This record gives sequence, C-alpha cells and structure tokens, in this order.
Amino acid sequence: MSVDALFRPFSHKSLKLKNRIVMAPMTRSFSPGGVPTPDVAAYYRRRAEAEVGLILSEGTVVNRPSAKNDPNVPDFHGEQALAGWKRVIDEVHAAGGLMAPQLWHVGSARNPMTTWVAPPPVDSPSGLSSPGKRFTEPMTDEAIADTIAAFGKAAADAQRLGFDAVEIHGAHGYLIDQFFWSGTNTRTDTFGGATIAERARFAAEVVKSIRASVRKDFVIILRLSQWKQQDFTVRLAQTPQEMEAWLTPLVEAGTDILHCSQRRFWEPEFEGSELNFAGWAKKLTGKPTITVGSVGLSGEFTAAFRGETSKPASLENLLVRLEREEFDLVAVGRALLSDAQWARKVREGRHGELQDFTKEALAKLA
Ligand SMILES: Cc1cc2nc3c(=O)[nH]c(=O)nc-3n(C[C@H](O)[C@H](O)[C@H](O)COP(=O)(O)O)c2cc1C
Repeated sequence: MSVDALFRPFSHKSLKLKNRIVMAPMTRSFSPGGVPTPDVAAYYRRRAEAEVGLILSEGTVVNRPSAKNDPNVPDFHGEQALAGWKRVIDEVHAAGGLMAPQLWHVGSARNPMTTWVAPPPVDSPSGLSSPGKRFTEPMTDEAIADTIAAFGKAAADAQRLGFDAVEIHGAHGYLIDQFFWSGTNTRTDTFGGATIAERARFAAEVVKSIRASVRKDFVIILRLSQWKQQDFTVRLAQTPQEMEAWLTPLVEAGTDILHCSQRRFWEPEFEGSELNFAGWAKKLTGKPTITVGSVGLSGEFTAAFRGETSKPASLENLLVRLEREEFDLVAVGRALLSDAQWARKVREGRHGELQDFTKEALAKLA
C-alpha cells in the first residue's frame, strides 16, 4: 500500500512541515541536573536527519519547585538548561528538522523508577495523588497563578531560542490532567466543579498565558488523554457532547493543534463510529489533530515497560484513516525511539529493515 499520505506536507500558521510524521514526546532522563547534554542534542538531530517532520521533545519542566519527579528530566528554565536546549534546536535546524518542546509539570504523580523526591510544595489541585489518596495540601491561589505564569514564561523562552512551536503536556494524569479529572480535582472554587468544562479552566488559563507570551502565528499544541496512568479505564468525556464541552474552552483559549493520546490509535472513542480520539477532536473543534498509539508496532507502550517486545506491524489502517483526513498528523513513539531511521525506512519501503522494540532501547540514547 502507498505510504504517500504520510509524506504530504502540512502547514498551520507558521508551522510548515515536510511530512505528517511527528516524534512523540518521550522522557529519557539523560539530562543530569536538568541540563540537556550534547548527547541529547545529537539524539534529536539524528531523527531530524532521517526525515521526521516534527520532533516533540521529551517532557521538560516549567519553573516550579516540584515540577519534575526525576532529577535527570530536563528543565525548561535556568541559564544552563536553556543553553542546552539552544544547542538542541540549533542542531535540529541544521539537519533540516523542526521541533517543539513539551512543557510539563508532573503535579502529584510520583515516579516508580526513582526514590528521588522534589522539594516541596507539591502542586496539585486537591492534594490527591489518586482518588481518595490525600497526601498534601491543595494548591493555593498564589501557587496556581505562579504555575500558569511559569508555562507562559517557558513558551516565551521556547520562541526566543528558536523552537518552531510548543506542546503543553495536559495528558496522562499529570498536573493539568489532575485538574481535568474529578478523581483528583475536588476543588469548590473556579478551578473545580461538577462538569468537565469547569475543570478545564486551569488548562485554559495555561493556554491563555502561553498565547499572551508568544507571536500570534506561533503554534500551540495541547496534548490530552482520556486515560490516566493512575487508572487506564478513566474517561473524562463519556459522550461527544462532553468531549465538545471539554475541548471548546481549550480551543477558544488559543490552542492550535490537539494531540490526542491513545495507547492504540485504532480504538474507537464512542460507540457507533469508528472515529478515534483525534478523529472526534477534529470533527468537534475543526482544529488539526495528531493521533498516536502503537503506530507500526504490535504491542502498546505500557507493556514495553513490563519488558514485552513489540514487533513491526502494518500501517494500513493508519494510512486509510489519514487518507480520509480523520486526523492530520501521526505521532510515533517507540518505533522512533529505538530506530532513528524509521521515517526514512517507511518512505523508502524498507519494511524488512524495521526493528522490534525491546525494553533495552530505553537504556541508551541511540
Ligand atoms: C519511554 C517513554 C517515555 C514517554 N514519555 C512521555 C512524555 O514525557 N510525555 C508524554 O506526553 N508522553 C510520553 N510517553 C508516551 C508517548 O509519547 C506515546 O504516547 C506512547 O509511547 C505511545 O506511542 P507508541 O505506541 O508509538 O510508543 C512516553 C512513552 C515512552 C515509551
């Protein structure tokens, strides 16, 4: 089957991509002291050299004391870290690539891989790590205002360093998603409420803060997920109407592209339609969307952490959906983590050279 649909250019505002392949954001924890090293720059450069249309960085944190849950996760603040990121974007550009940092705050989500604990205060809407599990105080109004401002500042720095867009990490049960989810947001002020539209207020304020800090034509991508790392079965929107109520204020605040995270891109979002999350988000908002989840691989990504091997899988279903314009862009995670040449191999039809994904790939920056 022709892979042409993956290699058509895409343009939105100032973002002009040579193809539809996006490297998914993937935490690598190879930035000691929060500073991306030359090895990190070379790792991204290799993907730019091998035809990835848009590279999304690993999650990189905004300037709040407890924004990260691992000391080797890169910061997106402070002179040294930003100098490290400047090297990254300069190398990616030199190789003909484009890149956006993924701006992140983990909130109350701990990291099972490390015993390291960030300095207090922990930021979270209601001091809950998962439903009913209270371990700290809810964020004060001041902490909320400071966090919203920190996202704006990081986006301004991204633009100043020369990045091509920014992505906000609003998914997977981290801080912004903790506001969306009724299980972790029990606030009774304007940042909480019974409806998903009310609980979208914090994210909308983050988007507005970024919008006010960057050029009008600078693209803001927002990553969202129904599922949470605390509970894969959670769904923020049970119906298309609820999804519309969730996404509309985020788009009105200034989001340009919605990045709709699923573990398996082919799974329908609601009964009675084959559309996936990215398909519905595009239909409901009219905005371009990115799909993701087990593209080109047989098993989903959380199984990879448990040591399961994923094998190369057919792209046919994906290509059919892309041809139908159900979504605009396709994010690829593990396949690109383990093989910098993945996009080029796909374009050249070198399917026999596509590799398995094994847990060992996580141990180094290849
Ligand atoms: C090692 C690893 C680290 C990840 N880190 C992040 C992250 O920092 N931010 C994020 O939004 N998603 C993260 N993810 C999820 C990926 O972006 C992607 O959604 C997921 O791997 C599914 O895509 P895939 O099946 O193509 O790997 C990570 C996934 C992996 C495998």
